[in-house]
Amino acid sequence: MSTPALTHWLLYCRPGFEQDCAQEALRQAKQQRPIIGAEQPAIIANSGYVHITLNEQTPQFKELVFARQLIRLEYIIAELSERDRLTPLLTAVAALPHSFGALWLEVPDTNEGKTLSAFTRRFQPLLETALREQGKLQDGAENTVRPELVEGSARTEKTPAYKLNHLPRLHIFFPDKSQAFIGTSDPYNSSASVMGIHRQNMPAEAPSRSTLKLAEAIEVFMDKGEQSRLLRSGMTAVDLGAAPGGWTWQMVKRGIRVAAVDNGPMKGVLAKHALVEHLKQDGFKFAPRKAVDWLICDMVEKPAKVAELISAWFIAGWCKHAIFNLKLPMKQRLGAVDSALGGIRKRLDEEGINYKISAKQLYHDREEVTVFLTRAKH
Ligand SMILES: C[S@@+](CC[C@H](N)C(=O)[O-])C[C@H]1O[C@@H](n2cnc3c(N)ncnc32)[C@H](O)[C@@H]1O
Repeated sequence: MSTPALTHWLLYCRPGFEQDCAQEALRQAKQQRPIIGAEQPAIIANSGYVHITLNEQTPQFKELVFARQLIRLEYIIAELSERDRLTPLLTAVAALPHSFGALWLEVPDTNEGKTLSAFTRRFQPLLETALREQGKLQDGAENTVRPELVEGSARTEKTPAYKLNHLPRLHIFFPDKSQAFIGTSDPYNSSASVMGIHRQNMPAEAPSRSTLKLAEAIEVFMDKGEQSRLLRSGMTAVDLGAAPGGWTWQMVKRGIRVAAVDNGPMKGVLAKHALVEHLKQDGFKFAPRKAVDWLICDMVEKPAKVAELISAWFIAGWCKHAIFNLKLPMKQRLGAVDSALGGIRKRLDEEGINYKISAKQLYHDREEVTVFLTRAKH
């Protein structure tokens, strides 16, 4: 029997979580089929990325908690000369079978990475022009004349975004100035954001930076249709561990009425707000008077205890959807996430409840991951 071919994968993650990211991706691949003849994963502590080797398995991005991005790695150029970075990159890309919908030049999410981003910004237009000339980049600048769109005059039109969005993306990742990792991502099995980072702007009125986590979670876990269906004005929510109010603010801004449970004070515009009822109670003992649409929960507690609480809310029928954070321990972080999510699945399965659950370590998460749980239709 011949040995299966090796495939290489580049995953981005929060710096410091490389082990968790690699371990989780390898475990998922092994569940598809055994990994034969692969090398050990290349892990550099605090680098913000990992390189793993598989056979025919394809990691499933949505199922990975710690990966910010998933890229099929095609080439590594280990010694890029400062005099001419362009030629070896163009040669490598020319050998790839596809043409691409986008070119993303990326760097690690580290301090070193930040120093490289000025270089990638300068380099991007150069490389884009050359790749377009090679026919490798289907870009908006491939002006298609569509006179029918403008009466009386021809108008130049960019390639429609919906077409580009279906094509694979080309990633060139610079771990440093002298190396380049060249790979591709499948728009249906990856993050739609450069570097896998959904940046959010800090809203001036929100009382805490935590608001960015919930804003990001809404973007990551729900498509636009779900967002407008599941987060509607007139809905109701309970926010456990609400103070000073960043998460509550995200709900209120969408016209959702919130019972904000916390012994601490709500701040800024939320200290007194027509849509907010502040309840100084223990979030683990609180029971709503009426079922609500949403439970959101950002209490700093052991993941197992939070998981138990969320399961109890779903089983009691007190909410339809939940977004909550699991604060990670110092060690065995993947194990803690597994057992918290496993615990919820087990309890809801036992009760015959249909649900969908997704978890991610978001860009705005630190030592924590965020989970979205919703009742699924039969
Ligand atoms: C990380 S902060 C929440 C920040 C909030 N999500 C925001 O966006 O502003 C955690 C909050 O949980 C509250 N908390 C911790 N244990 C709690 C409990 N048992 N019941 C209610 N609140 C609790 C703390 O008082 C603290 O305000």
